[in-house]
Amino acid sequence: MKKKILSTILAATMIAACLTGCGGGNAEAPAAAPAAEEPAAEEPAAEEPAADEAEAPAAEASGDLADKKVGVCIYQFSDNFMTLFRTELENYLVAQGFSKENINIVDGANDQATQSGQIDNFIAEGVDVLIINPVNSSSAETITDKVVGAGIPLVYINREPEADEQKRWADNNWDVTYVGCDARQSGTFQGQMIVDLGLEKIDMNGNGKVDYIMVEGDPENVDAQYRTEFSVKALTDVGMEVECLSDQVGNWQQDQAQAIVANALAQYGNDVEVVFCNNDAMALGALQAIQAAGRTVGTDIYLVGVDALSEALENVLAGTMTGTVFNDHFAQSHGAADAAINYLTGAGNEHYIGCDYVKVTQDKAQEVLDMVK
Ligand code: GAL
Repeated sequence: MKKKILSTILAATMIAACLTGCGGGNAEAPAAAPAAEEPAAEEPAAEEPAADEAEAPAAEASGDLADKKVGVCIYQFSDNFMTLFRTELENYLVAQGFSKENINIVDGANDQATQSGQIDNFIAEGVDVLIINPVNSSSAETITDKVVGAGIPLVYINREPEADEQKRWADNNWDVTYVGCDARQSGTFQGQMIVDLGLEKIDMNGNGKVDYIMVEGDPENVDAQYRTEFSVKALTDVGMEVECLSDQVGNWQQDQAQAIVANALAQYGNDVEVVFCNNDAMALGALQAIQAAGRTVGTDIYLVGVDALSEALENVLAGTMTGTVFNDHFAQSHGAADAAINYLTGAGNEHYIGCDYVKVTQDKAQEVLDMVK
């Protein structure tokens, strides 16, 4: 049932690259690409070309995949969203015919040096394919050179390398790709959920503006940059005036966000009308601070996150969060596994494989909760 609902909301998007900031930039909207089909986990790999590889040669039988070694580097195991991602990735790889003992998933502990050592180990071990969620996207060039130099195909996930880096893969025809959603879309969806409330409802201090605080993820990460920029841009695009009261880095972490929002509420009090958080973990921290300050989401303050963690969805259902955005870890993990398989079978991949986010307000929360639970 999960798969069925999921396949109805999946589509592919292509990405360019841009800048961010609390003041906002002027990036182009992402270009939409044709809808992608979600491959079914139960089907053999042979019948599952990636969305962009419809005419690729037939894939290897799953029996052959059982011998293939997959190295997976995750930037940090304690990240809630990446935990959902890696669990689904492992399950899906096994469903496609890989042996569990040949899938080695390691924790970069949010340290690029640690992760680089793990990549060296995987290369020395002779893994057949690498799936990497870089600690620092800016290290992608070094990582790519190392992995390509060793003749190992590479699938980047979650933290998108820069456009120049992606161009190198295409220019050199390397077996390197990125699988992920376009973070600009998630920011836009956050902003739209606020826009849809209407200025009259939001502007409780009556200054004619939307007064907000922004809690950012890791600032090196395009997801944080784009969500920060595009959430606010959705408001200014429809002519709403905005006032940024506070913009701070919470590193995707609930406890850091709680402290940031508690301070901001103490400083700005009832002037804080909207709290934008770059992810749900931080929105949950923000909610703790909001409740501790005696404020009520939906009544005297509004709060949005991204990811659609179960706990956040429960809050959206209860009205204690205004909304979230589903960061489709099913599509992304399956897309990454399919891309790895396409390299192993010689089918190859495009150098960018995208997916769509889904806006989740109260009316949609139960549907998404049923899907992610
Ligand atoms: C984002 C996600 C965050 C965090 C981050 C890690 O896509 O929304 O919660 O997991 O990736 O890079």
